[in-house]
Amino acid sequence: MKPFIQKLPKVELHLHIEGSLEPELMFELAKRNNIDIPFSSPEEVRAAYQFSNLQSFLDIYYQGANVLIHEQDFFDLTWAYMLRCKQDNVIHTEIFFDPQTHTGRGIAFETVINGISKSLEKAQQELGISSQIIMCFLRHLSEPAAMETLLQALPFKDKIVGVGLDSSEQGHPPEKFMNVFREARNAGFITVAHAGEEGPALNIRNAIDLLGVQRIDHGVRCVEDVALVEELKQTRMPLTVCPLSNLKLKVFQQMEQHNIVQLLRQGLCVTINSDDPAYFGGYMTDNFNAVADAHPMSYQELAQFTLNAIEASFISDQEKARMTEQTNEYLAQYV
Ligand code: HPA
Ligand code: ZN
Repeated sequence: MKPFIQKLPKVELHLHIEGSLEPELMFELAKRNNIDIPFSSPEEVRAAYQFSNLQSFLDIYYQGANVLIHEQDFFDLTWAYMLRCKQDNVIHTEIFFDPQTHTGRGIAFETVINGISKSLEKAQQELGISSQIIMCFLRHLSEPAAMETLLQALPFKDKIVGVGLDSSEQGHPPEKFMNVFREARNAGFITVAHAGEEGPALNIRNAIDLLGVQRIDHGVRCVEDVALVEELKQTRMPLTVCPLSNLKLKVFQQMEQHNIVQLLRQGLCVTINSDDPAYFGGYMTDNFNAVADAHPMSYQELAQFTLNAIEASFISDQEKARMTEQTNEYLAQYV
């Protein structure tokens, strides 16, 4: 299966660009920007990546982002990720960024969005990879703070397809952000939200009903509500699942216990994604391999993850049709 997975066209829908900051680049940027980091080598940074839950990861992840200062830093960060996409045959990616992680340190919104978007334009031209940008509100901060971020984004509306919700799910349910999500939808943004990662199935239902989301990020705890699973299946509500992330953050103790293949076989629109690949030990191909190693699957089933991601993406119907054909042609070589 490894050669099949390697060359399989892939579409990534759940990737935090700050989570693609590899320790080597973290060191380079720390040096370039004269920022102190509490590690003496990239190896030491990697050794510190032992997490017990989501919060223990977030604490280190926000600290790592402190080395990102200039537009060029955001450009370099994004470019390194896009080169990894090329290696993994990712043909389209929808990238999250967390504006508040940067504006909270005095970095201008414009600096962040320009660095990311210039890099993505170059990747479209030189690597042939298409992309979209989604900005996430940090749910541990207030709704007024999210509203302020939404206002900052309006001048860059042409570069941002949607808004999402990330950070600590426990204690910060979807309903906390009902007003700002309504404003975002009124302004023409698509909406998505992290839900049912560490939090209960109820967060998934409320993200759908109260935030009007078009995808659920993670969503693996949906299985705790049988009626919800049936609804997700009937409505083809996509779940952007991140298998290696779930292992690292102890949402599942072992990949054998992960429910993604069970959900695929039940007919849900589940997809495979890398979340924060520099922190969780793998990019897209690694995530596919980890799932396939623990859950033997047919070629058709593996390709279905890509077909689901194409269906769940925010690209035009014409682009979807082209990528679907590309994936089916690839699959036809094997079956
Ligand atoms: N969950 C919540 N917030 C995040 C994540 C995640 O998996 N990755 C980066 N921020
Ligand atoms: Zn995430």
